[in-house]
Amino acid sequence: MNPRPQRLHTWFNLIPVKEFEDKRPDRVLFLDSFVTIEPQPDGGEAPYVVLFEGKHEMRVVVEIGIIFVWYGDDLANPDRPFPTLYEEKYASKYVSSPATIFEDTHVMDFVENGSDNLHFKAVHLWEYSKIYDHEVSKDTITLKQDTKFRYGSCSTRRTIRLMSKILPQLILTQDYVYHGPGLAVVGATGSGTPRMHALVSLTPEGANRTRVYVTMAIDPETFPPWAERIFQRLFPKRALCDVLAGLMAGFIKNEFDIDAIIWTNRKYLRSPALLPSEKHLRDVIRWGESFYPKDFEPPEAQSKAPEDRQWKPLDDVKNIKPGKVHRYSVAGEELIARTDTTGDVRVFDAYCPHQGAHLGHGGRLDDDCLRCPFHGFYFDTQGRCVGPNVHNKDKFIKTLNLTPIEHRVNDGRVEVLV
Ligand code: FES
Ligand SMILES: [Fe+2]
Repeated sequence: MNPRPQRLHTWFNLIPVKEFEDKRPDRVLFLDSFVTIEPQPDGGEAPYVVLFEGKHEMRVVVEIGIIFVWYGDDLANPDRPFPTLYEEKYASKYVSSPATIFEDTHVMDFVENGSDNLHFKAVHLWEYSKIYDHEVSKDTITLKQDTKFRYGSCSTRRTIRLMSKILPQLILTQDYVYHGPGLAVVGATGSGTPRMHALVSLTPEGANRTRVYVTMAIDPETFPPWAERIFQRLFPKRALCDVLAGLMAGFIKNEFDIDAIIWTNRKYLRSPALLPSEKHLRDVIRWGESFYPKDFEPPEAQSKAPEDRQWKPLDDVKNIKPGKVHRYSVAGEELIARTDTTGDVRVFDAYCPHQGAHLGHGGRLDDDCLRCPFHGFYFDTQGRCVGPNVHNKDKFIKTLNLTPIEHRVNDGRVEVLV
């Protein structure tokens, strides 16, 4: 369970109008509870009445085809104004992707990742990523990112990975404006991309899930009128811009699938061992905390006293194969085991001290070092971190050592003290 609160005080995308009108759900899951939505027959400024838990009226704003709501101490009177998402809106449609629910995630996982330079190469396989010019204010964080990448090259779906090989490489500068942790406006300039508006919305759902939509609109000037006319003759009810917007929304959202594998298994570290070069990530984490309810108390971290530890069986030595990372859950502890060059078994706590990725889910051995799946840092046979370059074996990042687990071999079986 992620020890951060679901009930953040900010604006959220509750549901796109189209999804609501198509399904007319009795309840929409929201935070760790639900809301009811009643359309108002006379429309006006607030064409929907939204009641938190079916009782308490919330402040509603309907824009770019989305029903937004404020959550805070006073549901009807926001502490923060509704943000200006775009100075000028396009005349084309704002198309929202279908929702994707990410299990075992927190809204801040997505926000932190968007400003986590190192992971773009290690997880998304981008050829280049540089984040700079970040600015923090009470309501927003903005940052720029220079990138070189192909959408979908890290996709969990084979067809998209194959497709990414024929898509052009993009060289873009991306601008991110986070209007609170729930709403991220993304702009891109550079070769090979039309002018577009993109909004990534992150809505907490249940105790531990995040519902994600990507909403896109493409500048109607992107296509010459004759291209639009031909398209409409072939598909009379659709506009070229809107179809492209829907496709791009899907591509952007797809990039989260690969992050989700790491978030689902990761342990949230209250004090991640960030490097000095990750200062802006520290700022983002602190900014996220400013949206927590004032009375939020994180649950106490549990740690076992040494006298409560016991020897427990881990595995047969012969099952711990060279060149592989093996994962185990023993007495509530997540552990990994590997062999070293002499064939001796080494056992470590499974969580990376950098940002808590589970090394048993996607960690692999390379040149006898264990590579973390999140930022690609390498750990030698003693658990010392050599950073992102496996050939740097004489330089260690001293703040990043794996935690070795005491173990012994008894009659061909490995036992651990946990
Ligand atoms: S979590 Fe960052 S290198 Fe492991
Ligand atoms: Fe990511």
